[in-house]
Amino acid sequence: MTEASGAGVPEGLTVAVLGGTGPQGRGLARRFAAAGVRVVLGSRDAGRASATAADLAGATGGDVTGADNHGAARAGDVVVVAVPWEGHGHLLAGLREELAGKIVVDCVNPLGFDKQGCFALPVEEGSAAQQAAALLPDSRVVAAFHHVSAVLLEDPEVTDVGTDVLVLGDDREATDLVQALAGLVPGMRGIYAGRLRNARQVEALTANLISVNRRYKAHAGLRVTDV
Ligand SMILES: NC(=O)c1ccc[n+]([C@@H]2O[C@H](COP(=O)([O-])OP(=O)(O)OC[C@H]3O[C@@H](n4cnc5c(N)ncnc54)[C@H](OP(=O)(O)O)[C@@H]3O)[C@@H](O)[C@H]2O)c1
Repeated sequence: MTEASGAGVPEGLTVAVLGGTGPQGRGLARRFAAAGVRVVLGSRDAGRASATAADLAGATGGDVTGADNHGAARAGDVVVVAVPWEGHGHLLAGLREELAGKIVVDCVNPLGFDKQGCFALPVEEGSAAQQAAALLPDSRVVAAFHHVSAVLLEDPEVTDVGTDVLVLGDDREATDLVQALAGLVPGMRGIYAGRLRNARQVEALTANLISVNRRYKAHAGLRVTDV
């Protein structure tokens, strides 16, 4: 992996997506595959992952295959975690070996919903990303893609996603690579936004964006000004 396929993204890089059969995983996979990145979708059910992967390969013309989450974790150089908060800790606790040495990108938002709408859940470790780092001490955990709407990512009519992505982490090389991956998606920019200890408010801010979406019937994202 020496040449760049997009500025800062090594040629031949494989991105795996745990929970890749859901809207967010499918959406990110679609955009990375369309940019020429090899993608492996993970699922609790390898057959479901393969069926979703075949659809995405057909839709994008890209290299997309499916596996169970363990197989996907083994296959990825960069592994995106796109499962619901409820399954996050359990899944990652069982993947420590497979994910050792890898860049793990956590986009999980610990949120609750009640009659008043959406709200951020308290997390013992501080944030989902910090929980990932605690469970995966041999991995390079990065937090990113929390505010990107799966609806936009999955819509083939949306040619410019038009949003910034806040990228957080303690490993400069890892955050640089994830920023570069975000930059492969038309209209998307990866912006470094601090250490992993600052992931809590980034995850929680999603509750505000969901409130915006409900009020204005939108798929709101973020733009960072003057950068
Ligand atoms: N949707 C969005 O717009 C959006 C935007 C930004 C961030 N996110 C975050 O991305 C994550 C995924 O969102 P989503 O909307 O795609 O969620 P989802 O559809 O509820 O779940 C994604 C996939 O995770 C797997 N899964 C479900 N429950 C699981 C469990 N208990 N343990 C392990 N795997 C489980 C399922 O795949 P299998 O059944 O095939 O295993 C499912 O297809 C969430 O944490 C969310 O906060 C979502």
